[in-house]
Amino acid sequence: MRERPYTLLSCAMSLDGYLDSAGDERLVLSNDADLDRVDDVRAGCDAILVGATTVRRDDPRLLVRRTERREERVARGLKPSPLKVTVTGGAELDPTGRFFTTGESEKLVYCPSGTLGTARARLGAAATVVDGGAQVSMGRLSEDLHARGVRRLLVEGGGTLHTQFLAADLADELHLVVAPFFVGDSQARRFVDDGAFPFGPGHPATLADVRRVGEVVLLRYALSERFEETA
Ligand SMILES: NC(=O)c1ccc[n+]([C@@H]2O[C@H](COP(=O)([O-])OP(=O)(O)OC[C@H]3O[C@@H](n4cnc5c(N)ncnc54)[C@H](OP(=O)(O)O)[C@@H]3O)[C@@H](O)[C@H]2O)c1
Repeated sequence: MRERPYTLLSCAMSLDGYLDSAGDERLVLSNDADLDRVDDVRAGCDAILVGATTVRRDDPRLLVRRTERREERVARGLKPSPLKVTVTGGAELDPTGRFFTTGESEKLVYCPSGTLGTARARLGAAATVVDGGAQVSMGRLSEDLHARGVRRLLVEGGGTLHTQFLAADLADELHLVVAPFFVGDSQARRFVDDGAFPFGPGHPATLADVRRVGEVVLLRYALSERFEETA
């Protein structure tokens, strides 16, 4: 395999492992202190990746919020916020969404070769559409991002992306925030789908840190030998 970025997966889930509710209303699983922690993690990365469903459902900005963090990035010769990246099969993406319209950094959209034309027609100048091959694999996407200069990649969900990165053993670190309530509805989106994960009972992941952040808890796992203790 060619080189890939140091890859950090980050998400917040309920006590029963859900990333969201099944309903229309977006479920808040984090708090201000934790959002600020995520902001700091974002500021230290070169790119943030989310799946197309998250772009459609959450309409996220994916920007570094704190002024001093943005200024510190600019002082390092970087854009105020990292590159934004998404992946789609069907290219049902709205170029007026906040993912595309906010921030100065480039927006990349990976899609299968068969959808390239549709994606480019739909998104126009809002994003750079990248040919992900017959089927987009997270390995190939990671290698392509590395070739574009991305050395630290933050994957912020949803579960489809976490599943693919974990099952393909492409993640170096996991930040899992647990909120103190249950969703209790199997129609809701789980943290991961079924899969053959490298970390089973016989080969557990390494718990690197546990931190209380108000009423939520952050579990930090080392998933590879590249894990950076101080990150
Ligand atoms: N709690 C948290 O921390 C957190 C964080 C993020 C998201 N969420 C929640 O998670 C939910 C979304 O998660 P999700 O798992 O349903 O969706 P997702 O991972 O955000 O996006 C899935 C979509 O991404 C595209 N995609 C993924 N892998 C692909 C591949 N290999 N090739 C081509 N396209 C690919 C497809 O897009 P197309 O459908 O366009 O083809 C697919 O439907 C939302 O409810 C969101 O609010 C929660």
